[in-house]
Amino acid sequence: MKGFVKTPNQIAQRMVELLFRESTPSKGDQILFPGVGEGPFIKAIQDYCLNHDHPIPEGIACDTHKGRLEKARSQFEGLPIQFEQFDFLGRRQGIGQFDYIIGNPPYVPITEIRESKKENYRDRFKTAKGRFDLYLLFFEQGLNLLNDGGRLAFITPEKFEYTETASALRQQFDVYHLERLEHVSEGSFPSHITYPIISIVSNTSLNGTTVVPRKGNARDVSLPSDGSRWSQLVRDIDPDLDSTGVTLGEVTSRISPGVATGADSVFVFSSEKAPSELELWSVPTISGKGLEQQPISESVEPIAKFICPYDSSGDLLDESDLDTFGEWLNDVHRSRLEKRSCFQKGKRDWYAWHENPPMDQMLQEKILFRDITDSPRFWVDKGGDIIPRHSVYYLVPQEGVDITGLQAYLNTGQVERWLQANCDHARNGYLRLQSKVLRDLPVPRRFCSSYQTEQTSSSSDSPTDSSKMNAAEQTDDD
Ligand SMILES: C[S@@+](CC[C@H](N)C(=O)[O-])C[C@H]1O[C@@H](n2cnc3c(N)ncnc32)[C@H](O)[C@@H]1O
Repeated sequence: MKGFVKTPNQIAQRMVELLFRESTPSKGDQILFPGVGEGPFIKAIQDYCLNHDHPIPEGIACDTHKGRLEKARSQFEGLPIQFEQFDFLGRRQGIGQFDYIIGNPPYVPITEIRESKKENYRDRFKTAKGRFDLYLLFFEQGLNLLNDGGRLAFITPEKFEYTETASALRQQFDVYHLERLEHVSEGSFPSHITYPIISIVSNTSLNGTTVVPRKGNARDVSLPSDGSRWSQLVRDIDPDLDSTGVTLGEVTSRISPGVATGADSVFVFSSEKAPSELELWSVPTISGKGLEQQPISESVEPIAKFICPYDSSGDLLDESDLDTFGEWLNDVHRSRLEKRSCFQKGKRDWYAWHENPPMDQMLQEKILFRDITDSPRFWVDKGGDIIPRHSVYYLVPQEGVDITGLQAYLNTGQVERWLQANCDHARNGYLRLQSKVLRDLPVPRRFCSSYQTEQTSSSSDSPTDSSKMNAAEQTDDD
């Protein structure tokens, strides 16, 4: 059942309506149904053409799954459609060019694609980049098979609008007309959590895209074709934050997720329950949930402890130096720790964490925030002694940056709107606050050290100004 998600009739009908909106079918037109499944799009095309008195286009319906294809064949026997079992992404030559292509491509992440297939796809598809998903390749293949003026309607996850992996697909749309991006309700595919989107593309050189958000009004936008993310343009959120020429990435030395141990149930204790005999190896930590229980106005109060087999430089301690801690790990948890994939693959010692904690970066004053959240908020670790858990990101401002000022800025409504407009979507309206997005957040120039230097030197270069300031200060004091 890899990649099989049946399209509800209502969605199929909507897509057919959009497919034929600008160009109704005429005699001899050719249609392709890639990954036809049990044929909901054939049914919707048939109904539309009968209701509007149009000829049903002739064409090909393909699927790799014999059972589904046979089911569709038996249902639509009288129509001018050939049902063929073949791999739409294969090297099949000469299936022709099409006036219409409609489908719901399989969503199969790279982790579920065989190694030999992956290599083959990487050789043949421009969109097979990074951690690609099959639906991206279906788009590429579909676009290549469009006649001049031909039209394509696909329903897919919306992720191609903003993920790095889909950058090559965003570039490919440059030579087509991506007419419409219609964001469909999250509940459209019962039991499947995706953010579905209908894309309507035509093989013409026109420009301009109508974006229909899930909430809010449709609007026309001009999407960039350089592969950059479309998040801000396709969401109905006015980020209300102009570029200042300075980004968060430029005023921080690090924005990273906290530490993954691969076995938090072994290494993490609530502060009250931490075994006193392991105190020597304990360091304060905090999870995403723990953060959300705290006021943002105060420095974070760690409510848990990591029992940590690393020294203050982040180097793994020798097993013989672990003493009571080593014995406890060995006696109680060794078999559990050895089951972790990082140990099984021979990459880590049995008592090591999934990755070495970069202690020099983490153990300093920093800003903390949740990795996935519906309402982004930022806390400060003033003491600088907290090792964040994997569900928490930490951000270390560059030297001289006012950390409290930066935290206050990050907690403004303006920044929240920018994050809502730019971050990737996780489930149920939650956002992923990834460092690659946060680095691009515009920040006021006052946080930039070169700006501060400019200000300092210009004021010290100008004795008149500085004496004026002294006078003003004196007046205030008086
Ligand atoms: C998401 S389902 C959609 C099915 C159907 N179009 C619908 O909307 O109900 C994707 C379909 O693509 C088929 N499929 C997966 N990989 C394929 C490939 N490489 N070539 C052709 N069909 C494929 C699956 O068997 C499945 O029937």
